[in-house]
Amino acid sequence: MKAAVLNAFGSPLDIQTLPDPVLSGAGNVIVDVVAAAVTSYAADVFNGSRNYLLETPVAPGAGGIGRVRQAGPDSTRLAVGDWVFCEPTVRSRDEVNSPDQILQGWTYRTEAALPLHRYYHHGSFAEQMLLPTENVTPIGDIDAADAGRWTVMGRLLVPFGGLIAGDLKAGETLVVNGATGGFGGAAVAVAAAMGAGRVVATGRNGRTLEELGRRFGPRVRPVQMTGDEAADRALIAKAAGGPIDMVLDFLPREATGGQVRAAALAVRLGGRVILMGGLRGADGDLGLNYNWLMHNETTVRGVWMYRREAIPRMIRMVRSGLIDLGQFQLAEFPLAEANAAVAHAAANAGPRQLTVLRP
Ligand SMILES: NC(=O)c1ccc[n+]([C@@H]2O[C@H](COP(=O)([O-])OP(=O)(O)OC[C@H]3O[C@@H](n4cnc5c(N)ncnc54)[C@H](OP(=O)(O)O)[C@@H]3O)[C@@H](O)[C@H]2O)c1
Repeated sequence: MKAAVLNAFGSPLDIQTLPDPVLSGAGNVIVDVVAAAVTSYAADVFNGSRNYLLETPVAPGAGGIGRVRQAGPDSTRLAVGDWVFCEPTVRSRDEVNSPDQILQGWTYRTEAALPLHRYYHHGSFAEQMLLPTENVTPIGDIDAADAGRWTVMGRLLVPFGGLIAGDLKAGETLVVNGATGGFGGAAVAVAAAMGAGRVVATGRNGRTLEELGRRFGPRVRPVQMTGDEAADRALIAKAAGGPIDMVLDFLPREATGGQVRAAALAVRLGGRVILMGGLRGADGDLGLNYNWLMHNETTVRGVWMYRREAIPRMIRMVRSGLIDLGQFQLAEFPLAEANAAVAHAAANAGPRQLTVLRP
């Protein structure tokens, strides 16, 4: 199979012929990859500046859309040619309470997870991919031309995981902190589809905020952040116009603890704060006050990715029209132009922009 291979951190992707994956028995599926999303920070993963744990050489790529080529003998429903969503989070099967987790073709995160990375090594920047059976979910029939559009599922599922973990209910008021970013913007779309009564969308970029307000109508209230923690919290409270049930934070690693607290501390008595962003400053110390947490009875929860059950739910939300995949602007590249795709993704990182490889 042809693949875009990272031979070493800092080298460009190299188009090579690798051996086709081989089905070694039960528990695995081989998929013909049709479309793979390229994240805006892919270049930083490949040049090593993100310090993601990856053994090279590797065909990178975190999940995608494809068709079943071969399913293991323990698959009871998958058929050759089925269109599927390929989920990149691979969990070890030998420890149910605290499995080791990797993102296939993207990062193995901890040394303990290395055997998973070595076995499910290559990602979706390749013509074929070997996946655990449970990471393959049928999406139903689609037009091949729409495969790139369906990769948006990967972006929507991440905030969906946080909204499910925080148990967002219809009618509730949610703050999405960092709503002008890729995952924050997707969080606004998913929360609106789940029936949030009001979504306060924070960010600094006035144009993107305005566009969010226009697109979603009066349930979404954009608020421009100033960088002054207390002033920003007052702006958020005003836009909420009542108690805030839940805060979902998607600020990136460059953000400060004050930017996160501006939203987190606005939550009502007994409210939920879900942390999904990348705060790294001051070693990621958020500085939440013990007495505030106790008296305000706040639940603070970190969430990484999403549970498997979220995937068929999201497929149904798309199929029912609650989520419109057409709201994303796509730029598609053939595998041979993988490096151009990575550069394009970095330069076009808007919340509705999506760069896709078509292996
Ligand atoms: N938990 C998980 O499973 C999970 C999964 C995927 C990603 N993440 C994390 O989620 C975070 C967001 O990812 P993303 O791809 O959505 O990022 P992104 O597209 O770069 O969006 C981040 C947004 O944050 C805003 N921002 C606020 N303060 C900033 C600052 N000081 N410097 C730079 N930007 C600032 C920017 O909008 P304004 O300029 O308008 O403020 C920017 O649009 C990342 O840290 C990522 O690692 C977590």
